[in-house]
Amino acid sequence: MNRRKFIKNAIITAAGAIIAGAASGCANDEESDGGKKMKILVITGSPRKNGNSNTLADNFIKGAQEAGHSIVRFDSAFKNVHPCIACNKCGMNGECVFKDDFEFVKSNIVDADAVVFAAPMYYFGISAQIKAVIDRFYAINEQIHKPKKSVLIMTYADNAAKTAQPIISHYEAMIEYLGWSDSGKIIASGVWAEGAVNNTEYPKQAYELGKNI
Ligand SMILES: Cc1cc2nc3c(=O)[nH]c(=O)nc-3n(C[C@H](O)[C@H](O)[C@H](O)COP(=O)(O)O)c2cc1C
Repeated sequence: MNRRKFIKNAIITAAGAIIAGAASGCANDEESDGGKKMKILVITGSPRKNGNSNTLADNFIKGAQEAGHSIVRFDSAFKNVHPCIACNKCGMNGECVFKDDFEFVKSNIVDADAVVFAAPMYYFGISAQIKAVIDRFYAINEQIHKPKKSVLIMTYADNAAKTAQPIISHYEAMIEYLGWSDSGKIIASGVWAEGAVNNTEYPKQAYELGKNI
């Protein structure tokens, strides 16, 4: 792996990723695989089992399963994934010093056709639980640098669209670096309490996105 490229790419600000308004949940027609049945890895990041992002992930999964796709789910808040310690023993393409629940992600992400990130906003970023999983991509960086679809599902209490921009930019920059393509985003604003999202249109949007990915 070219580490300079990683560093260079990692600081590029993703272009054109700003979602005007509160929600965007449409699949990108240009990226349609013409009905191909896919393996989809869904990585969630909320410690609230019945929280808003988990509810949206459930709805996405329902739609995707109805469309015939196979789903593998990893609820990072309920798993043991040690944060990357930058020892670089993996050399960005090798064995990680930690043998923990990331092994499950490792064994399912390489051949996944699509990866879904479903995360709550914590202090303008994604939750630490899901970020720890993403940082561990470092050890399998070479193996996941290949075309995949990707989806962002995020929930936050604020109503302002601009509040979501840091997470959207992070997501866009990351998938551009990995060579993945965005298949849609559900940016669910104005949801604070557990279950608040049930009174919105977002679950339906997540279901439709799953169905049409
Ligand atoms: C530690 C923490 C930090 C948060 N930071 C923000 C924030 O910066 N902006 C915001 O709008 N909401 C923030 N929230 C609210 C959550 O994003 C909101 O409740 C969201 O719906 C949680 O998703 P979940 O139900 O999937 O866990 C925060 C909540 C917690 C617990």
